[in-house]
Order: sequence, then structure tokens, then C-alpha cells
Amino acid sequence: MKVLVVGGGGREHAILWALSQSSKVSKLYCAPGNGGIAALAECVPIQVNQFELLSEFALAQSIDLVVVGPDDPLFEGIVDHFEALGIAVFGPRQNAAIIEGSKVFTKQLLKKYSIPTATYESFEDFESAAAYLQAHSIPVVIKADGLAAGKGVTVAFSREEAEQALREIMVDKVFGEAGNQVVIEEFLTGQEMSILAFVDGEVVRPMTPSQDHKQVFDGDKGPNTGGMGTYSPVPHIDQALVDEAIANILIPTARAMVAEGRPFRGVLYAGLMMTPQGPKTIEFNARFGDPETQVVLPRLKTDLLDIFLAVVNGKLADLEIEWRDEAAVCVIAASGGYPGTFERGFVIEGLDEVEDAIVFHAGTKRAEDGSLLTNGGRVLGVTALGKDIEEARTKAYAEIEKIRFHGKHSRTDIALKALVK
Ligand code: AMP
Ligand code: GLY
Repeated sequence: MKVLVVGGGGREHAILWALSQSSKVSKLYCAPGNGGIAALAECVPIQVNQFELLSEFALAQSIDLVVVGPDDPLFEGIVDHFEALGIAVFGPRQNAAIIEGSKVFTKQLLKKYSIPTATYESFEDFESAAAYLQAHSIPVVIKADGLAAGKGVTVAFSREEAEQALREIMVDKVFGEAGNQVVIEEFLTGQEMSILAFVDGEVVRPMTPSQDHKQVFDGDKGPNTGGMGTYSPVPHIDQALVDEAIANILIPTARAMVAEGRPFRGVLYAGLMMTPQGPKTIEFNARFGDPETQVVLPRLKTDLLDIFLAVVNGKLADLEIEWRDEAAVCVIAASGGYPGTFERGFVIEGLDEVEDAIVFHAGTKRAEDGSLLTNGGRVLGVTALGKDIEEARTKAYAEIEKIRFHGKHSRTDIALKALVK
């Protein structure tokens, strides 16, 4: 089969890496791809929002399956576009991708179906939101309704900070239309965890859990990023809590989406807080996490193409999904300055010295002379497998040391939480 993956980051590299191991794959394409993906797939210079060009390409090349990585095109209806042309595509339709695209929609859904989440109110104007804030306990969480590249959430530890976040979203419109509505919600405490699941309507097949590190500096300090590192499994969180989250959050949400006439087909990503009252929903994403995918897929035993096809063909209920026992740790090498402003175009060296890890490229490109250059905030993700988190972590850090580029920055404490008893 010929498969086209839409996207060009570490997540898409990990998806292509897993697909490249399928005996049923004859050719892989990626649009637009990146400098590392080019080793596995033919990269096509079409951007993820160029739906017409993508479908023309898919039809011309007789692509058998399209897999959509990022959130933006899902929210803009890329799956509906391909389906209307009779092209098989893995990912949720626009009316289901709203579970990531609108926090107000999702909070209302969770409330309506009594699915555990932080208590909240939503607002359409600054004055009433600011008035509500005055009476709210601190800390408090402020969320722009729409997609804001992972930056639309502020956990405020003072009323001033909360009001400033509110003003930026609703008055200054720093996230544009995504800030037309805002959610103000209760601050939850506990360990965070991500559970991704393959979902086809009411059928939910959870993946192995993982934990992300969103802040840029050690000790969860500094501004939020797309994710500085991940690990899987999450051994210090009881399986009973994972089971509870699946039973009380993931399955009821999939059912609720069907009941709302918005059946979800694709990867449903639940961001969860393990609170003293049990697991609660922080957010849903309508796609694979980045960099969660870089630890989850290396632990997948089952052929990923079989899973995608089962979802697309309504056969997910018949499929058993198997995982490796080994643990995985992924450490991100980012550009100096990220998540603020950073420069691109620095030469990356040392990749050929990496022996015992998989290097997923997030933001790289090939120069004309063949050298590899930095081309994004997150540049590379180094994933190592080991018999446990400790071994995988040691390997990942030993290998990432070998990679050099100007301004390279990594956290040094990825997965440490899993080792502290
Ligand atoms: P989100 O983009 O919704 O995942 O939020 C980004 C981060 O903000 C999450 O990973 C949490 O660490 C934090 N966060 C979001 N909502 C809450 C909440 N209600 N209570 C505590 N922390 C939260
Ligand atoms: N790593 C967080 C996300 O993919 O949304």
C-alpha cells in the first residue's frame, strides 16, 4: 500500500518510522516532511493546509491511505475533504475534531455527560469574565477557547496574573479568534498523564500511558512548550487509576461524541490529572501527541498500518493491540531561545555517532550540500528503549550528548519523576 502522512514534525517521523516496519507498505510519502523524514519517505513540498494540492497528489499517485498528523488541518476539515473524494483517510472529521478545537465545546460535553473534569464557567466578554475572576479562588486556570499552538492556557497564581491573561486573550486578541470565548476553571492538583487511544465511534483501544514535560526548564520551570520530553510507561501511577480513566473518561467521551452525532474516528488524546478524587480531564486532543508519539509508537508491537486500516474500515473491535514490555524515554533537543524567538539554520553534527537510540526529527532540513540544519524550535527527539525507565533514560541522555548544534538546549530531568519513590 502507498501511504501519505500529512505533517512534518517529530510525531510524523515517529508515525512513518512505525509504518516503515509494516510488510504491507510499499511506498511512504510525507507532506511536507523534514530533513530526517526524507530517509524514510518521499517528501512532497505541499503544506498541511493546501487541501486541494494534497488531494490532487493523492489521486495522481493512487495513495491507498492518508494519515493526518497535526491538529490545524483536522480542525479545518481535511478529513471531510479527502472523504468527499473517496480517498481513505485516518483522522477525525471536522465535527469531531472540535473536541480539541473548542475548549468551550468540550467542557459543555463533559458537563452534559457527567465526565470528570475541573468545574468551570465560559465567557464571551471581558467584563463578565473579569467580574467572575474577582470571586474565584487562586490558583485559577484561564483558557482561550480555540487552537493557540499550545499557548492558550495560563495557570495563574495571583488575581493580577489571571486578569492579565484574560486581557491578552479577550482584549488584545493575542490568539486572534481563538480568544472570542474563554474558559475559567478550577485548578486541579495531582500527577499529569496522557492516555492516547485509537477510537472508532464507541470502540476505544487505549495506548500505553505516557507523561509529557511541557515547561522548557528543569523542575517544570519557565514557559510552556509543545513538550520537552516524554516517557512510557508511567510506573508510579497505578494501573487501577489508568483503568479508571479509561472507564470513566475515554469510553464515556467516545460514546458521548456518538450520541452527539459526532462519532470520533482517529486518535483521541486525553490529558488527565490524577487528582485526590480520581482522574479528571484537563483537555482532549484529536490527534497523536507530540512528543508522546515518540515513546508510545516505539513500544507498539502490532502493525500500525493494520490499526489505521481497522479504524478506517470499522474493524477496530476485532483487533488486539500489543505492546512491548520495554520502557521508552524521549528527550528533546531544542533551539536556544525556544519557546521564544530562536534562529534556524545551524549545522547539526554527531547524528552518525548515535548507536542505541532512535532520533526523530522535529525541525530539521537538508541543505543543498547535504548537511543537516536546524529548522524549528524543537529540533530532534532522541528516544531510547530499556528494560525499565532508568535504563532507557540513561541511554537517551548518553546518546543525545553526542548530537551537537549551536544553542542546543535539553531538559536534564526528563522521566526523573518516574524514579523518585
Ligand atoms: P492544556 O493545553 O489544556 O493541556 O493545558 C496546558 C497545561 O496547563 C496542562 O498540561 C496542565 O499542566 C495545566 N492545566 C490545564 N488545566 C489545568 C487545571 N484545571 N488545573 C491545573 N493545571 C491545569
Ligand atoms: N505534547 C502535547 C501535545 O501534543 O499536545
